[in-house]
Amino acid sequence: MNADLKNILSSITLTSLKEKFQVQDEFLVIENFLPQSILNNFITNLPQLNSVINRNYIPNHKKGGSVSKYSLDNLAPLFKEFYNLPFFLNFLREITGEQLLPCPADDAHSYALYYYTEPGDHIQYHYDTSYYKGKRFTVLLGLVDNSSCKLEYQLYRRHPNRETQTYSLTLNPGTLVVFNGDKLYHRVTPLGINEERIVLTLEYVTNTNMGNFQRFISNMKDAIAYFGFRQVFLKPRIHR
Ligand SMILES: [Fe+2]
Repeated sequence: MNADLKNILSSITLTSLKEKFQVQDEFLVIENFLPQSILNNFITNLPQLNSVINRNYIPNHKKGGSVSKYSLDNLAPLFKEFYNLPFFLNFLREITGEQLLPCPADDAHSYALYYYTEPGDHIQYHYDTSYYKGKRFTVLLGLVDNSSCKLEYQLYRRHPNRETQTYSLTLNPGTLVVFNGDKLYHRVTPLGINEERIVLTLEYVTNTNMGNFQRFISNMKDAIAYFGFRQVFLKPRIHR
């Protein structure tokens, strides 16, 4: 997979993407970023993850399932490999113009899967707030989408001189989305009956330091809203 992926990335012309990322206030969509042949490498790993999906329901905020970095490391190390691929990281650095870094090994959200499998699964409007001392960038990659869900997002909401603009996107398999988590206000609309949507989420930062209190808040959020207390606080052996 790595050689094919490297070829794809090296064939992409970065100039217009970098410009678009800046014009859109640090947000970019690349449709058909990965072909199905490469996506299949991820998708073949999904069945063994079904038993470790952690379901969450927070009224008026979110409902859905998640698989944490720790579970992926144990059961599907391909995701860790993808997250740390130097040429993929360089590609993201070029797009964002930032010296992006992988999150520390004890961050359950570094890379994770979001599962929408039950009717009504959704997440309400939010920012991907950074508790790190620098910026936090979110990368989404659509893996499976047999759904009517939309990623709805608002550009320029925190921009001092621009009108907010609202858009709607289907996260088709192979679509890549990159954004500054503190700038993009976004939500995912509810899943319909007999629908399914699985998304890979990656988090990169510009400073891997986090204050102790911020780490506590971040861990509590991950435990309650995403992965469960066992995954976040009783961390399995960490190896990156
Ligand atoms: Fe988000």
